[in-house]
Amino acid sequence: MYTGLKRQLLKICIVLLTIILLNDIALMSVSGVEYYSEKPSFLPSCRIYEPGFTKCSTNSVQKLIDQLVIGIPEVLQSFGPFDPMRVRDIIFKQDNNEVATIRANLTEVVVKGFSKTKIKESRVSKKDFSWQTKMFLPKMRLDGKYKMNGRILLIPLSGSGNIFIEIENLDILMLTKTRLYEKGGFTFDNVTSVRVHLNMTRVRTHLDNLFNGRSNEVERSTNQFFNDNWRDFYEALRPLIVDTVESILLEVMSKVFNLIPANFFVEDIPTSHQLYGTKATISNVS
Ligand SMILES: *[C@@H]1O[C@H](CO)[C@@H](O)[C@H](O)[C@H]1NC(C)=O
Ligand SMILES: *[C@@H]1O[C@H](CO)[C@@H](O)[C@H](O)[C@H]1NC(C)=O
Ligand SMILES: *[C@@H]1O[C@H](CO)[C@@H](O)[C@H](O)[C@H]1NC(C)=O
Repeated sequence: MYTGLKRQLLKICIVLLTIILLNDIALMSVSGVEYYSEKPSFLPSCRIYEPGFTKCSTNSVQKLIDQLVIGIPEVLQSFGPFDPMRVRDIIFKQDNNEVATIRANLTEVVVKGFSKTKIKESRVSKKDFSWQTKMFLPKMRLDGKYKMNGRILLIPLSGSGNIFIEIENLDILMLTKTRLYEKGGFTFDNVTSVRVHLNMTRVRTHLDNLFNGRSNEVERSTNQFFNDNWRDFYEALRPLIVDTVESILLEVMSKVFNLIPANFFVEDIPTSHQLYGTKATISNVS
């Protein structure tokens, strides 16, 4: 009888523990990958087949950005803070270009400014659920260490040291492609590509030790030249800057959209099976 009671108590404990776990942990795990199984309270509800979706979605993405700035624990853990943001090393090679032939490595890169991101418009395609997002950042600044060899605007450069690039009034048009997939009864976005178009009103830059310290005077006048001709400087380095912004956004969004089901952004999103049909899912043809 006594052991029977003990077993009964143990059973109750297990049931209680299970209830606690199921109720309190909105974060579920499928083969070690965590995701939200309850809509976070910071996200508004939007329905794409109802009027006013774009307005709602714009607000929703703004709320997401604001929350990223505050810190989403699961994103913080694997990605780090949103602003200032540590970025992995950038290895850049650009040959056969009129304005710039350079090999550059950037390390210890920190990017500031994303916390002031203003979402101007977030559109979602009803056809393939890709997104088009218009954003504005009053200022974005990249600080790091560079190592560089090559030519920019016909000036031969060879040096290493500190670099900063500061962009003012940055308009970003972000084109995101996704593929829907199912996980734990939810539909998720697999972010497969991010393309950006950038406009700005000014780029400031400074590169230390541009000629390996051989001439401070030439270094100063070269930096001056880059700043006076910032549009040309930007055009020359555009692939580097665009690549950097695209890879940052791809990484953030992959993290976020593997964590938060697409259903919490677009409540009436079809499942991947409804959207692609069964054949397309198997053959992976889009
Ligand atoms: C950049 O890094 C790569 C790989 O680490 C290296 O092969 C290359 O020489 C570096 N380039 C410069 C300009 O230092
Ligand atoms: C950049 O400016 C051009 C010309 O004014 C405009 O067509 C384009 O849409 C702008 N792009 C962004 C990302 O603001
Ligand atoms: C997401 O897409 C990538 C290819 O872009 C693929 O390798 C990966 O398996 C996909 N993940 C899921 C969960 O569908």
